[in-house]
Amino acid sequence: MCGIIGYVGDDNATGYLVSGLEKLEYRGYDSAGIAVIENGKIDVIKSKGRLKALEEKIQAQSGFASGTVGIGHTRWATHGEPSDANSHPHLSKSGLFAVVHNGIIENFSFLKEKLISQGYEFKSETDTEVVAHLLEKNYDGDLLKAVKKTADALEGSYALGILCRDYPDEFVCVRRSSPLIVGISEKGNFIASDITAILSYTNNIYKLNDGEIALLSKSGVKFYDKYLQPLEKSITHIDWDISAAEKCGYEHFMIKEIMEQPEAVRATISPRIRDDGTIALDGVSLTKKELLALNRIYIVACGSAYHVGVVGKYVIEKLTRIPVEVDIASEFRYRDPIVDGNTLVIIISQSGETADTLAALRMAKAKNARVLSVVNVVGSSIASESDDVLYTWAGPEIAVATTKAYSTQLCMMYILAIHMAEEMGRIAHDETRRLLSSLMAIPEKIEDILRLSADIEETAKLFKDLEHAYFIGRNIDYAIALEASLKLKEISYIHSEAYGAGELKHGTISLIEPGTMVVALACVDELFPKTMSNIKEVKARGARVLCVTTAKHSEELKDIDYTLIVPDTDNLLIGSLEVIPMQLLGYYVAKHRGCDIDKPRNLAKSVTVE
Ligand code: AGP
Ligand code: GLU
Repeated sequence: MCGIIGYVGDDNATGYLVSGLEKLEYRGYDSAGIAVIENGKIDVIKSKGRLKALEEKIQAQSGFASGTVGIGHTRWATHGEPSDANSHPHLSKSGLFAVVHNGIIENFSFLKEKLISQGYEFKSETDTEVVAHLLEKNYDGDLLKAVKKTADALEGSYALGILCRDYPDEFVCVRRSSPLIVGISEKGNFIASDITAILSYTNNIYKLNDGEIALLSKSGVKFYDKYLQPLEKSITHIDWDISAAEKCGYEHFMIKEIMEQPEAVRATISPRIRDDGTIALDGVSLTKKELLALNRIYIVACGSAYHVGVVGKYVIEKLTRIPVEVDIASEFRYRDPIVDGNTLVIIISQSGETADTLAALRMAKAKNARVLSVVNVVGSSIASESDDVLYTWAGPEIAVATTKAYSTQLCMMYILAIHMAEEMGRIAHDETRRLLSSLMAIPEKIEDILRLSADIEETAKLFKDLEHAYFIGRNIDYAIALEASLKLKEISYIHSEAYGAGELKHGTISLIEPGTMVVALACVDELFPKTMSNIKEVKARGARVLCVTTAKHSEELKDIDYTLIVPDTDNLLIGSLEVIPMQLLGYYVAKHRGCDIDKPRNLAKSVTVE
C-alpha cells in the first residue's frame, strides 16, 4: 500500500520517477522499481531494499532507458516477502505490459490458478502479477478495453499504473480504494499515490474516483468512467507545503493513522470472511484434532501488542474454553514457562522485529510449541520464524504510538477465537455468522466515533494540565484501560496507570484525592453495575470521572462528571470501539501540551534492543 509515480513528457522519465519515489519514501516501504518504454520495449529495473539500491542498479546499467514514458513504485509487501522478484513493476508474459500496484487483490489466488491453467507462468509470489498477465490476456489491440476488462475482474483494493509496449507515448492508470491522483504540469503529466511526489512540479491535480480510468500523454489527460464513457473532471488546487503533503493534510501521522482505521480494519477482515460466513485463515490450518489436543495457549507480546493479547485472552477463553495465558515477552522469555508440543504460542507484533518478542518466539519453538504470529510487516523476522503467520493489512504505520495496527490486531484475535471455537464445535455456525456480521459492522461504527473527534478534543482539554490520571475497567474494559493509559502517557508524558476497577480499593485508591481524574471504561454490559460502584467509590474521595460507555447505558450515568458514548456491539468486540475515543484523547491531550506526537521522547517505533 505504498508509493506509485508515473510520468509522460518531453524529458527523460527516469529522473522524475526516482525523485518522485524519494518523496514517497516517508510512507515506509521495503523495495522499489521503475519501468520505462524505449524503442518499442519496456525496460524494468527493481530492487529489494532502499531506493539507494535501486539507484545503484540504474547507475550500473549505463544507458538505462532514456525514454520519456515510465512508471515507478515503492512496495510495502502484503503478498510475498520483500525480494527483487516480488518488487514492482511486474511484466506480463510477453513483456507487452508493465504494472505497478498499491493495494490488495483479494481474489488473486482464484485468478492466478486460472491463469496458470491457461499456461501463464509466474515469476513472483505477489497478487499484483495476476494483473499484468490478465491485461495481456484481455488485450486485442485496444488498451483501454483491456484495462476495463481487467479491472472488472479484480476484487479488493488497487491503484494501478500501466505501461503498454504498443502505446509508447502514453500510459494508463485506474484505481479502486487505494489512493491515486493525476498531476498536470509544464514539465509533463504525472500520476502519484499522493501529491508529495509531484508537489515540486504542480499544485494542480485531478482526484481519481473509484473505477475511473485516465489515459495520459504529453499533450494532456483523458478521463473515462468504468464503462469507458469520456469524463470531464475539474482540477483541484492543493496549497500544501511538502511536510504537510507527507501527512496527506493531517497535522501528524498519528491522527492520519487513527483516521485510517476503518479502512485498515476492512482490509484486514474482509479477505478472511467468505460470503457464506466461513473464515479463510490464509492457509493456517489449526485442525480440530490439534486444537482439542492443546493444553494451553500463550499470547506473548510487548506494549500495545500485549494489550491486544489481554483482549485476546478474554475472547479466546470465552469462546474456545482453552486456558489462555497472556504475558509480556520480556518476562515470558526468562521464566522458563511450561511449554510443550501441545502448546500454541500466539505472537503479536506490528513491526515483527521487537527483540524481546522475537526471543520469546525462539524459546517457544525450542520447546516444541506451535507458533502463530500476527504481524503487520511482511517478511519481518517474527513472520519468517513463525510456523504460521496472519498478516494485519494496516499498511505502513509511521507514528510511534500504534493505533491502526493495534485495531487490526484486535480483529485478528476475534477471527482466530471464532475460527478455533467453531472448529472445536464449541459454537454453532449460526453463532459464527452472528459474530462475523457484528465484526463486519465495526469499521462503520469506528467511522461514527471518528466523527465525534471535536467533542473528544474538548474533553481532552480537561487533561491538559494534569500530572496524573487513572484508567479503570473490568474484563475487556480493563484491557482497553491498559491501552488507553499507555496512549496517554507515551505521547503526553502525563503519568497514568490502568487498574482493574475491582482492584483499585486494594491499595491504589489511597492516591485518589479531590480533583483526581479517573477514566472509567464501562462498556461490558454484565459488569456495568460493578464498575458504576467503583466509580462511586472514587467519587466519594473527590475524584472527577470521565466514563466511556455504550449508548445502551447512556441513561444510567447520574453524577458522572463527563461521558463519552460509543455505539453498541457484541460485548466480545466492544474493545474495538471503546479504544477509539481513548486514542483520540491521548492524541489531543498531547497536541494541547505541544508534545512531539509522532516521535515521543525516549521511544522508537520498533524496539529492536532488549
Ligand atoms: C505502542 O503505542 C508502542 N509503540 C509500543 O508499546 C509497541 O506497541 C511495542 O513496542 C511493541 O511493538 P511491536 O508491536 O512492533 O512488537
Ligand atoms: N499487494 C501488492 C504486493 O504485495 C502491493 C503492495 C503495496 O501496496 O505496496 O506486492
